[in-house]
Amino acid sequence: MPIRREIPSRSIDAAAINERRVDPHYTRILTRLLAAHALAEKLTALGYQRALETIDNPELIPTIEKNLAEERKHARLIYRALEEIGMNQQAADRSMITVLKAPSFDAPSYFAGHASGELDLLMASISLDTTGLIMIGVNYKDSSYAPHADAAEIILEEEADHEIFASKQLGEAVAKFGTEAVNEAFRKWIPRAVNFFGPPGTGFTYDCLRYGLKTRDNEDLAEIFTTMLSRRCEQLGLDFPELTPGYPHALA
Ligand SMILES: [Fe+2]
Ligand SMILES: [Fe+2]
Repeated sequence: MPIRREIPSRSIDAAAINERRVDPHYTRILTRLLAAHALAEKLTALGYQRALETIDNPELIPTIEKNLAEERKHARLIYRALEEIGMNQQAADRSMITVLKAPSFDAPSYFAGHASGELDLLMASISLDTTGLIMIGVNYKDSSYAPHADAAEIILEEEADHEIFASKQLGEAVAKFGTEAVNEAFRKWIPRAVNFFGPPGTGFTYDCLRYGLKTRDNEDLAEIFTTMLSRRCEQLGLDFPELTPGYPHALA
C-alpha cells in the first residue's frame, strides 16, 4: 500500500523548525536524514581525496580534483542546513556512529578508507555518484523541507556530471583493463552499491515518506539503479552480478 504524503514539497523552512511550529518527530526524522546525507557526501569527498593520492594517471587528475571540490561543497551544504536547525557537524557525525557500520555505508566507507587504483575509483563513482543521482533526484528534490530541496537542486547538477564521467570511464575501462577485470570489480562493488540505498520498508523510511522527506522506498530506488546499470553492462558485454534478494545484498 503506498504511503500518503502528509506534508507538501518545500513547505517547511528552518524558521518553522526553530520556532517549533512542526511536529518534533518531523525534526528528529529530518535531522537523521540530513546527518546521513551529509556523512555520505563527506565520505565521498574523502574518497576522491584518497584517489588523488593513490592514482597517477594524469588524464584522471582534473576530474578527480573537480569531483573532490564538488563533493566537499555538497557536504558543506548539508552540514550548513543542519547547523541552521541547531546541530553542528560533530554532533551530526556522532549521531551516525552506528549507521556508519551498517551495510548501507559500506560503499562510501570503503571509498574513503580502502579504495585504490583506477578500477576502484570507477566502481566507487558508479556506486556513489550514480546512486546519489537517483537518491537525490528522486527523493530529495521534492522534499517537504525547502532547504534540503534547494541543496538537492544544486547537488543534482554536479552529480549528473559525475555520472557522465563514470559511464564514459566504464567503456574505457573495458578497453584498458579487459572485460574480466571489470566484471571482477563489479562483483566486488555492486552488492555495496545496491546496499547504499539502505534497507527496504523500515519505520524510518515510512516516516520519511509520510513527512514528504522522501518520495520512494529504498527498494524502488535500488531497482532503478540495477535496471539502469545492468542495461549498460549488457551494451558493453559485461556481466551484471547476480545478487541475493534480501538486504543486505550479497553475491548470489
Ligand atoms: Fe555529492
Ligand atoms: Fe558525486
